[in-house]
Amino acid sequence: MRAIWYERQGAASEVLTLGERAEPLPGPGEVAVTVQASGVNPSDVKIRSGARGAMAVPLQIPHSDGAGIIKAVGEGVDPARLGERVWLFSAAYKRVGGTCAEVCVLPAEHAVPLPDQISVKAGAALGIPAMTAHRALFCNGGVADKTVLVTGGAGAVGHSAIQIAKWAGAEKIITTVSSAAKAAIAMAAGADHVINYRQQDVVEAVLADTQGAGVDHIVEVELGGNLAQSAQMIAEHGTIAWYGSESAREPVFAAYPLMFRNVTLQGIFLYAITPEQRASAVADITSALEAGLLRPLIDSVWPLEDTVKAHERVESGERSGAVIVQPSGG
Ligand SMILES: NC(=O)c1ccc[n+]([C@@H]2O[C@H](COP(=O)([O-])OP(=O)(O)OC[C@H]3O[C@@H](n4cnc5c(N)ncnc54)[C@H](OP(=O)(O)O)[C@@H]3O)[C@@H](O)[C@H]2O)c1
Repeated sequence: MRAIWYERQGAASEVLTLGERAEPLPGPGEVAVTVQASGVNPSDVKIRSGARGAMAVPLQIPHSDGAGIIKAVGEGVDPARLGERVWLFSAAYKRVGGTCAEVCVLPAEHAVPLPDQISVKAGAALGIPAMTAHRALFCNGGVADKTVLVTGGAGAVGHSAIQIAKWAGAEKIITTVSSAAKAAIAMAAGADHVINYRQQDVVEAVLADTQGAGVDHIVEVELGGNLAQSAQMIAEHGTIAWYGSESAREPVFAAYPLMFRNVTLQGIFLYAITPEQRASAVADITSALEAGLLRPLIDSVWPLEDTVKAHERVESGERSGAVIVQPSGG
């Protein structure tokens, strides 16, 4: 099969190799999937570059997310799953065989039936973004009837978070973006109020919109960079669920204002969620897809030969939505 792999970390153009590898066969409890779309996430490029520590395996076929068709099942997996359209998650985390190959073998429960109306490209954009958004929204009892602030609402995770919050019955969804184009993306996703955080006073705008009460729940892309503001606009007993802190990796913050209001600071690391949390995310994402309320945004689609460019597109920080590589066509 054709695949992309690397055996040392570094720049995409220096370490990613395109070539032929032996096609893997599914073991007990596994499925083999013909990968039609492979999603590239920041995590994939950070692991490749070395920003997340040493390699977990000596040779890595990258990308955790993907979508395609089950072509073989291992012992113990229902043969009725053969031919099923599926979306894939956690294919590459501490595993050799990610989705950037014509065939990917992974545990059967990491291959989730894809509703007919959802394209494989959209399916390859669900794993990390939608599951992270789901955990961030449901980490403390869900968001039904709550006011939610999603920072970075045009980002892959943020965009999913707006849509899943809507599906989950949030009373109001406020989001922050940095441009008019991103505001349009966030509005289309279902945000009730979009704030340009480069041009507006976010705290003032949020407090005005919530009659001074603040928001019950924040889905936070940039904990350290935004915490001083978040502390002023999180409501009593509120939760700040954060999944990134790139600009300030060791934030210093005023602890007591958060303690006095019983605020929960909840870190989210998707790869380490429990099997129950994973199953809950899969069930809810499926339900939101079927309800027509979750539609991932696609930024760009690349042939397997251009995987280097796809990685560079993610690293550019200029994308809006998922960057997709097509190992076996669409
Ligand atoms: N912990 C986990 O399990 C987990 C899971 C998924 C992703 N992540 C991490 O989360 C980050 C985002 O991932 P992604 O896939 O959503 O990336 P993405 O599609 O590039 O989106 C990031 C978004 O955040 C916005 N942003 C950056 N700084 C901001 C700030 N201070 N306030 C508001 N918005 C801000 C960016 O837009 P502007 O710069 O235009 O504002 C962009 O729209 C990455 O670092 C990724 O590695 C972690």
